[in-house]
Amino acid sequence: MEYIRLMKYPGAKKVMLGEIQEIYKKSKRTNFIDVFGGSGSVSLNIQSKYTVYNDLNPELCALFMSIQERPENIYFLMKEGVKCRRQLIADGSLRLNQIDEEATLTIKKAARDHGIPEKDVNAVLFLTKMNLSFGGMGGTYATRKEKASMAYISKTLDQFESIGGNVKKWKIENLDFRDLVKKYDGTEAFFYFDPPYLGANWYDMNFDLGDFHDLANILSGIDGKYLMTIDPESSHIQEIFGEPDYIREFKNENGPEEGLTNPPRRRAFYVRI
Ligand SMILES: C[S@@+](CC[C@H](N)C(=O)[O-])C[C@H]1O[C@@H](n2cnc3c(N)ncnc32)[C@H](O)[C@@H]1O
Repeated sequence: MEYIRLMKYPGAKKVMLGEIQEIYKKSKRTNFIDVFGGSGSVSLNIQSKYTVYNDLNPELCALFMSIQERPENIYFLMKEGVKCRRQLIADGSLRLNQIDEEATLTIKKAARDHGIPEKDVNAVLFLTKMNLSFGGMGGTYATRKEKASMAYISKTLDQFESIGGNVKKWKIENLDFRDLVKKYDGTEAFFYFDPPYLGANWYDMNFDLGDFHDLANILSGIDGKYLMTIDPESSHIQEIFGEPDYIREFKNENGPEEGLTNPPRRRAFYVRI
């Protein structure tokens, strides 16, 4: 099956999907609960009867809600944004921040002309920001990276029917993990925990040691089966969670930064199935 993705996001899980799917299948549980759902790379691709997508970041949840309820609006506005950016890049006379401004105005005008609600505009602007954020926004002329980002967004548009079809079936939650687990724990539950990395401030919502201690307490008291993947090099992880069941090495999905090497990523797997 083709891998579906909506956005660039640190910690997206493409390379691990096969293994996550296999562990979930072995658990024989019916409810897949993606506790730290992020870009949705896992929820979008997991084969499951019932999927709960959760993230504490309200912008992510609002985006997925818009896709669930009004996919045609999101598709239309994204297309308008891409058309406008492509034209401006081809003209070659604008700086990236000017291109951003023009594309934003175009998206807002298209929404007004078609009676599309503001929350869908915000969803598209958030998604665009995520997908261009590695592309070097700022005061330079349009670059190859900007064009590559456009190609990325066009691929998202090509996959949009599948994305919308999958998101339609989700239950979307915007809860702290402590509340989410309380709400969904039970004998049908399988939780996938992919918490933020300790010490990395990549997300709007990050984790401190107290959060990891709470997560460890939760793991020891739930009826649900689970998989947790975590960076084994993160300090204190083994003190808090004990020895992982195993550690795997994966290709680094983010691609090398210019001038840097691209070492594989190691992930500790904590599994109860
Ligand atoms: C490692 S990322 C998850 C990546 C995700 N598996 C993906 O495929 O994109 C961790 C996520 O946890 C979310 N998060 C941070 N604190 C949280 C909390 N207390 N409860 C729920 N989610 C939280 C962050 O917003 C971030 O999206």
